Amino acid sequence: MSKIQSIGVVGAGQMGRGIAQVAAMSGFQTVMFDISSEGLEKGLDFIKKQLDRGVEKGKFDQAFVDQTLGNITTSTSLDGVKDCDLIVEAATENKEIKFKIFKDLDEIAKKEAILATNTSSISITEIAAVTSRPAQVAGMHFMNPVPVMKLVEGIRGLETSDEVFKAVEETSQKMGKTFIKVNDVAGFAINRILMPMINEAVYAHYEGVASVEDIDTGMKLGCNQPMGPLELADFIGLDTCLAIMEVLHEGLGDTKYRPCPLLKKYVLAGRMGRKSGRGFYEY
Ligand code: CAA
Repeated sequence: MSKIQSIGVVGAGQMGRGIAQVAAMSGFQTVMFDISSEGLEKGLDFIKKQLDRGVEKGKFDQAFVDQTLGNITTSTSLDGVKDCDLIVEAATENKEIKFKIFKDLDEIAKKEAILATNTSSISITEIAAVTSRPAQVAGMHFMNPVPVMKLVEGIRGLETSDEVFKAVEETSQKMGKTFIKVNDVAGFAINRILMPMINEAVYAHYEGVASVEDIDTGMKLGCNQPMGPLELADFIGLDTCLAIMEVLHEGLGDTKYRPCPLLKKYVLAGRMGRKSGRGFYEY
């Protein structure tokens, strides 16, 4: 497999822009794609602000910022990523949308390109199956905020080849991340463990065990978590938390993964967390 030198990122949202930023900072030629030009502009603006902040804090100099920004190009056409060695999809967490993107990527990307997905819950094997190159498809699950969190959860689909998985591991390491190897089972490893904790915190509040603030304070001060579970749920997005719990519930078939009715109610009400201005807290 030829060396990965260029990375295409599909989606300029919270995750996509973070992945593009880290890829460009690590010296990869990076193409950030989004169907919305406004979304692309916002994503690029966010990256610029993060980089400026890095200069203010003395983490790197202006020359590094210029070099990093020089590594990024943007495109509102998926064709923009067609020459990339590795394409990381970070679009909306919706099966049909991801299947469509992978079918399109399979058609336009060069035949040796690796197609990776940042999905937090959809089966890699199933995504790979919509392409004609399932051996070249893998999961690359970054954590939010991508520039800060040091992990990439690497997920091997049924057909992912050793060579491709190794290339994904090496690329993650070049991006400064620690890579863990996980098999393709509902929720993978991180969300299999994290989401039931968040869901349990929602139940604890729902059943009157403690207030939102006290649950979060308890887990922050009592268990040294950087954010309490309900604050973290707002940060991730309550719709995303619910979608992952549903995948765990359906995929593993155990009632212990039943999403809390309060989580469902908040999502129905449009209380998605930070991104909508209201979740367990108001923003
Ligand atoms: N993008 C980039 N950098 C960010 C950032 C963002 N959105 N938010 C914070 N940072 C940076 C800051 O610039 C700061 O950098 P320096 O240390 O270099 O100054 C650093 O992070 C710390 O930030 P703050 O001092 O402002 O705030 P903090 O100390 O409260 O930390 C936090 C913020 C890093 C988000 C911390 O609260 C944290 O680690 N929270 C838990 C995050 C977590 O668990 N993420 C995983 C979510 S699960 C997931 O992503 C997977 C999934 O599938 C759902």
